[in-house]
Amino acid sequence: MSSSYSLSRKEGWRRFVDTPARVRPERLSRKAVRALSVEAAEDYAEIRADWHANFGTIATPQLTGIREELELIVASNRQDPDRVRGAAVIDGPPGLGKTTIANLFGRQVDRATRRRFGELTEAGDERIPVFRVGLTSNTTLRTLNLMICEFYGDTAARRASSADLARMATDRVVQCESLVGIIDDVHFINQTSRDGVAVNNHLKWLANELPVTFIYAGVGLEERKFFNEGLSGPSAALAQTARRWTRLSVELFKPGDPAWPALVKAAESHLVLAAARPGDLVNLADYLFLRTGGHIGSLMTLIIRGCYKAIAGGTERLTVGLLDGIRIDEAAEKSRRKPKPTP
Ligand SMILES: Nc1ncnc2c1ncn2[C@@H]1O[C@H](COP(=O)(O)OP(=O)(O)OP(=O)(O)O)[C@@H](O)[C@H]1O
Ligand SMILES: [Mg+2]
Repeated sequence: MSSSYSLSRKEGWRRFVDTPARVRPERLSRKAVRALSVEAAEDYAEIRADWHANFGTIATPQLTGIREELELIVASNRQDPDRVRGAAVIDGPPGLGKTTIANLFGRQVDRATRRRFGELTEAGDERIPVFRVGLTSNTTLRTLNLMICEFYGDTAARRASSADLARMATDRVVQCESLVGIIDDVHFINQTSRDGVAVNNHLKWLANELPVTFIYAGVGLEERKFFNEGLSGPSAALAQTARRWTRLSVELFKPGDPAWPALVKAAESHLVLAAARPGDLVNLADYLFLRTGGHIGSLMTLIIRGCYKAIAGGTERLTVGLLDGIRIDEAAEKSRRKPKPTP
């Protein structure tokens, strides 16, 4: 992936924010598909594979609920610029849509802010309403600040000293009038190492210093006591910041939740398969729950692979027989093999 496509660079982020929604490919009848030339059939399979992998986000209750909370947090920070600002922590098990939610919200803020206030700040600098970084396994204080600088395209940053980097990062945020900062995958900060504690405290310091609402996302943050540790001694003052952080958890769908068939139905409505009949997928909602354990990421993977196979094999329809032959992630496969508990 070229760096201009990375969401951790302003160019890639801007592309994500401004790219119009994909156009759904036309649905041909089975007969029409059979009549396609070899090349045309390949093309039709290709655009549908691309569509199924990217048709966009489904408004699940988790997603809309958290979006509303995020709107509230950002809006109240705007009204009280001098108070300690709140931040949001999107927490939950892997693959449930934390990144999706944070990015969609960032996109919404970015678009609305540029529409309202224009592409340039009053001082004539590029307005960058949202910055975003994704942490990696070896995030130190230096790399955190470097990632922020690199988001803004600061090419001199690599050679700067650690102290200079912190200043450069905060300068950029202020200069570009950024309002929201997304810090994804914060579980990579190791709370038990000195580096990790320093990074964690630096995040709190940034949240205090900058006129920005921070949105953190990561796996299992509550269990890791992510926001309480490392607050003794000189950093105790920062505990107050952490107290203003709202934890928004993303959970698995529970058995029997009516939102599950609603999600399956919404996904079904996006599919472009020549032999599909209405209800093909929603009728399999229970089966799909058993396969995925109520995990949206696994569900999407299963559907995307199922569609690929249905198109490649020419059956053009999702059935239990077809889906049974598809392996998805190991966690979901394990839960599939687990014997059902006896009531
Ligand atoms: N609301 C949604 N509609 C459609 N697809 C979704 C939705 N939420 C998540 N997905 C899909 O589920 C998968 C996992 O989502 P995402 O990467 O946002 O999860 P995550 O919680 O950030 O995962 P990780 O813990 O690995 O960082 C992605 O492929 C994404 O496209
Ligand atoms: Mg993620």
